[in-house]
Amino acid sequence: MGLLKVWDDNPMVIDVEAARADTKGTGQVIHLNNAGSSLVPRPVIDTVIGHLRREEEIGGYEAAAETSERRENVYSSIARLIGATPGEVALTESGSGGWALVVSALPFATSRVLLSRTEYVNNVLVLRNLARRHGLQLVVLDDDSHGQVDVEHLQRELDRGDIALVALTHVPMGEGMVNPAAEVGKRCRAAGVAFVLDACQSVGQIPLDVDALGCDVLVGTGRKFLRGPRGTAFVYVRETLLERLEPALRDRQPAVCSPGGSEPEAEARLLESWETSIAGRLGLGRAVDYALELGLEPIRDRVRTLADAMRSRFASVPSVHLHDRGLIKCGIVTFSVQGRTAEQVKAHLAGHRINVSVAALPPSTADAVLWPNIRRQTIVVRASAHYYNTDSEIDRLIHALH
Ligand SMILES: Cc1ncc(COP(=O)(O)O)c(C=O)c1O
Repeated sequence: MGLLKVWDDNPMVIDVEAARADTKGTGQVIHLNNAGSSLVPRPVIDTVIGHLRREEEIGGYEAAAETSERRENVYSSIARLIGATPGEVALTESGSGGWALVVSALPFATSRVLLSRTEYVNNVLVLRNLARRHGLQLVVLDDDSHGQVDVEHLQRELDRGDIALVALTHVPMGEGMVNPAAEVGKRCRAAGVAFVLDACQSVGQIPLDVDALGCDVLVGTGRKFLRGPRGTAFVYVRETLLERLEPALRDRQPAVCSPGGSEPEAEARLLESWETSIAGRLGLGRAVDYALELGLEPIRDRVRTLADAMRSRFASVPSVHLHDRGLIKCGIVTFSVQGRTAEQVKAHLAGHRINVSVAALPPSTADAVLWPNIRRQTIVVRASAHYYNTDSEIDRLIHALH
């Protein structure tokens, strides 16, 4: 595709000009809201629109029938992206929906669930409901001195036993921090406890491998750093767990009643809705292939370089205060501006055609949901870089902030 340049001293570098030429929006806006939803590249848009055109021309079921092989390839592409097998992948319409479906389908033989303070808020709400229904006890793990999940606290809780699962959000919604997921996975494996990883903010900006991460479930969303269409997401479920899933939705069951149909195999697809946007799924597959063609390592390196540049250039703006915690940081940069609300900063930057978003940083999403009378939130501006952003765009951001 020609989006990778090879240099003598740095063998894999993203060809930013080619990436921008593939991304119409880069000519219109400075898009630093990739943690919200990235600009979608042309091949993904062409895939989605191409399929919708076929639905227009020959009918929805008929257009779907034409794509059976390409639809199958979406599972293989996602499997390749995260080091899984296609049977361990299910496609859903949102990360939150996928997380709720899979976690609700897990057997709860024991009664304690461990979660980090920065767990995605919707996940905490699901856990709260499950806890009420199944009599589970939710245990919120401490942060360590860097703001990451405290793996020593995790270990103490694992040693006490009676753990149904451990939930972790890899990259929290409103912070540049990358939680030490592989370390958590290692300890969960040693204890024989299921580990559920929310990778919605990390997939597409950081290389992921389910074995290296040691997770049994991983959830990713399409529209963020993966650059897929909106309304797309996926769930990975480790093969050894598939037999034990008890999904509330049995939408693929009609296969039993259809001509030649049989009981569906125990594969992650049991979690799926039969009815969905085929165009969206094909678009998601194209987005995954696009990321794989570029390489997740070059993507991670460039995203990190741009975000680090943003953080260090913020130092030249005295009224800007950075909020990112964590030992390892990613493409999300959160900050506030003295004397201005986050909404004012966002509106001001929008006037300069710079897209950022606003995020609420409670001291802990888990605590805020579980104990709602805790209301000490900090509202911050979230600027999130992708590989198609440039240094000169960051200059313009800094200039606009001055
Ligand atoms: C960390 C994290 N997890 C999960 C989600 C949910 O993804 P979706 O909006 O696809 O449900 C988000 C969305 O912002 C997120 O930031």
